[in-house]
Amino acid sequence: MNISPIDNFELLFPDNSGFDKTDILFYSGKNDLCSLYLSAENKRNRLFVTDTNIAPLCTDFISHFTDENADNIKAPSIFKKGNDTLCILGAGEKYKTIENVLEIVRAALNSNFNRNCLFVAIGGGVLSDMTGFAASMFKRGVDVEFVPTTLLSDVDASIGGKTGCDFDSYKNMIGAFYPAKKIHIWSSFIQSLPQNEFISGLGEVVKTAFLFSPELTEILKTQKEKVMSRNEEVLQKIITICAKAKAKTVHEDFKEKGIRAYLNYGHTFGHALETVAGLGKISHGEAVAWGIGRALGLSLDKNLCSAEFANECKSILFDYGFCTDPLPQIIKDIPNATLALVSAMHKDKKNSGSCVKVILQKTGQSTFITEVQDNEIIEVLK
Ligand SMILES: NC(=O)c1ccc[n+]([C@@H]2O[C@H](COP(=O)([O-])OP(=O)(O)OC[C@H]3O[C@@H](n4cnc5c(N)ncnc54)[C@H](O)[C@@H]3O)[C@@H](O)[C@H]2O)c1
Repeated sequence: MNISPIDNFELLFPDNSGFDKTDILFYSGKNDLCSLYLSAENKRNRLFVTDTNIAPLCTDFISHFTDENADNIKAPSIFKKGNDTLCILGAGEKYKTIENVLEIVRAALNSNFNRNCLFVAIGGGVLSDMTGFAASMFKRGVDVEFVPTTLLSDVDASIGGKTGCDFDSYKNMIGAFYPAKKIHIWSSFIQSLPQNEFISGLGEVVKTAFLFSPELTEILKTQKEKVMSRNEEVLQKIITICAKAKAKTVHEDFKEKGIRAYLNYGHTFGHALETVAGLGKISHGEAVAWGIGRALGLSLDKNLCSAEFANECKSILFDYGFCTDPLPQIIKDIPNATLALVSAMHKDKKNSGSCVKVILQKTGQSTFITEVQDNEIIEVLK
């Protein structure tokens, strides 16, 4: 490898987890996949997985595999060069299917890869989740690396080993714990992100700030202009704080028996909104940010937090353009939207029985998991 990271750290997994560590490496400047993966002689079989939106951002890398114009490559496409295979899939949540996971497995199988091969996802959370899941299954598990290209995957999705895909219109219904060996982060990828995807990533950034980082909360409050104009230096700082916070939480609670569940702040409401709106209709981060607003409402209704705390958090959400309405516009015309949300919350993976588990905050330093009744949920959706 010809390039040096500007920062790096290790996420160590517990001894009994069956996994060793993830190296998380940060780079500056334009993405340089050619130096990272193609500059040295390679004897290992590697399967690179990306999507039709990302291929045009890495034309040097793609041109190693094909003469086709990266803007026009149709999905799914498979290209082979030497020991390497490139698999290009469709872009976005609607492609996060078991069929596409199997497409990745098939690409490796048809290339006659053995257990020593490496899978590499170059893309957002959809691709890292699917490629990680495919890697966990192929020959009972092969190495996987991620090159995240969205803010959401930089700060959250690529880190921690949760992989999977949607199933029968339910989010992330099937999957496996299977962490990447390495994660290579270029914050410059974020410059080309569509605004809605950037805002989606900010939803998870706000969540991390509220849960773990007064420093990040302060950056969000005082440097909104720089954040929104995607200032490289500020982005690098934000990504580093979030990646380290997520890694620390995963290190302390790999199998989500305790504090890792806090990362689901806003998610029980958020996943329900994604399901009711129709997967892909609202971005994950926007749904999570709306869910945080509802969780704050629950905390306030139950007299668990002060109005001052709830209002301060809600005003950050509002300032960054997140929906703080009880029922978002996108589902207002759906008949019985409130009941559909409640029903989807019961189907969330974390729930069983008559109650719904939610993460609430008393203050920025005090987060906890609790069960709530349907009538309490309905109250904050009014
Ligand atoms: N595994 C986890 O711990 C975890 C955590 C949070 C979210 N997730 C999952 O992550 C997924 C969302 O991830 P996401 O927001 O990255 O979505 P995504 O992967 O669908 O990417 C969003 C869109 O942006 C495009 N894109 C990606 N990088 C780009 C770039 N640099 N420039 C221009 N366009 C680019 C993609 O092609 C896609 O159309 C959800 O499925 C969610 O369930 C997983």
